[in-house]
Amino acid sequence: MTAMFLLNYILLGFALCTGSPIVSQLSSYVDRPCGKDPKHLWLDIVAVVDNSKEMTDDGVLSIAGELSSLFSHAEQLGIDPNQPRTTRIGLVTYNEEATVVADLNNITTADELSNTLFAALTWTSSVEHSYLQTGLKAADDLLAKQSFNTSRGHYQKLVIVYASEYRVSGTQDPLPLATRMKTYLTIATVAYRQDIVVGFNDALTKIASPGYNFTNFNGNNVVSELKTTMIQVNCYCPNEWFQMRSSSKYGVCIRPFATMATRTAARLSCRNQWNNAYMLNEFTQMKHDFVLQVIGNITTFTQPYYIGLSYSNGNWQWDQPNGQPLIPLEHWNNWSPGYPTASSTDTAVINVNTSWQNTNPSLSNMYICEVAACDSANYCAAENI
Ligand SMILES: *[C@@H]1O[C@H](CO)[C@@H](O)[C@H](O)[C@H]1NC(C)=O
Ligand SMILES: *[C@@H]1O[C@H](CO)[C@@H](O)[C@H](O)[C@H]1NC(C)=O
Ligand SMILES: *[C@@H]1O[C@H](CO)[C@@H](O)[C@H](O)[C@H]1NC(C)=O
Ligand SMILES: *[C@@H]1O[C@H](CO)[C@@H](O)[C@H](O)[C@H]1NC(C)=O
Ligand SMILES: *[C@@H]1O[C@H](CO)[C@@H](O)[C@H](O)[C@H]1NC(C)=O
Repeated sequence: MTAMFLLNYILLGFALCTGSPIVSQLSSYVDRPCGKDPKHLWLDIVAVVDNSKEMTDDGVLSIAGELSSLFSHAEQLGIDPNQPRTTRIGLVTYNEEATVVADLNNITTADELSNTLFAALTWTSSVEHSYLQTGLKAADDLLAKQSFNTSRGHYQKLVIVYASEYRVSGTQDPLPLATRMKTYLTIATVAYRQDIVVGFNDALTKIASPGYNFTNFNGNNVVSELKTTMIQVNCYCPNEWFQMRSSSKYGVCIRPFATMATRTAARLSCRNQWNNAYMLNEFTQMKHDFVLQVIGNITTFTQPYYIGLSYSNGNWQWDQPNGQPLIPLEHWNNWSPGYPTASSTDTAVINVNTSWQNTNPSLSNMYICEVAACDSANYCAAENI
């Protein structure tokens, strides 16, 4: 039993007895979750609210309440020259036509947002029906004018739709437009009335990005669902990086490099990528399987490849970003039978087929880099994306 092992054992015992912070240190051997800090989201959002008579006065008023409680953290709205992590929100109402009530630069505090919402959404308009296409189009135009191709071009964009009905007429079919919009932004939908017209909820679900179709009935907490949506939408990987996900996203991005490099060169290459990336960590079978899936889709990438594990100071340890200590390998491992071999020179680790083997770091292999996703805990500047 090594001294290190004994020490861990004692610390673990200590942690279990006291519930001390050591527990969180141990549990940091997990795949990074998406940043969940609601005060530091950085998004451009347009709320698109149906204000036709179908919606009813009670309906629009409660939407005003929901949208203002969604942004109860005053410090994050608008643009702050000293703090890039801010959210802008615009408001569009629509019936047979759309109205931009507030563009993306009008609202700079939570109070202004509340005032704007309650002024616009205390009563419905006098128009009977609504065409979602008009509301979507207004949101798309607003984002094209004020967000894409601006200094906030790299901010993720979210359109939140509240609809009471789904009408299609002539050119006013929302689906083709929504399908196009979803290639560059996220649409969340809230079906604001029971399925009076059969198929309403299904039709609206087709407008939404996958997983972001909500309803306000059956006691659903729309505010909490939309808060989660904002956190998830804000959590993304830069171009050419692949985001780890199961039912929801992880705050982890990986990128395979189909070039041959020694381990030292591979590690340096990762560090020269975006935001101090490092070599791939595989803490879990799930991550390992995700990586195999990603490379299975890249024909130029071939096995074996370097992962971030290496032997130093008497331990197998995972690579980390510049300036952070390496992380010792814990319980889950994936060694091929007979590995790791006892060797003073085979200190690097490659993945061969589906498991790990130690090898000589001077050999050239392809490699995989990893980096934290862009999210509320990790701002990514445009030039880095
Ligand atoms: C929003 O801002 C624009 C200019 O940026 C201004 O013309 C417009 O009046 C403002 N609207 C509201 C509702 O404050
Ligand atoms: C942004 O600029 C690019 C290149 O100039 C252009 O192709 C694209 O259509 C623009 N996008 C928007 C939403 O205006
Ligand atoms: C959202 O869409 C999924 C998949 O189509 C569906 O199973 C789910 O019931 C929908 N959720 C709501 C709230 O409509
Ligand atoms: C790999 O490609 C398949 C088929 O195009 C796709 O469904 C899957 O999501 C891809 N997997 C990853 C991890 O990119
Ligand atoms: C990978 O697995 C295949 C099929 O099991 C086998 O033919 C091949 O030799 C293995 N490659 C290596 C490098 O072990």
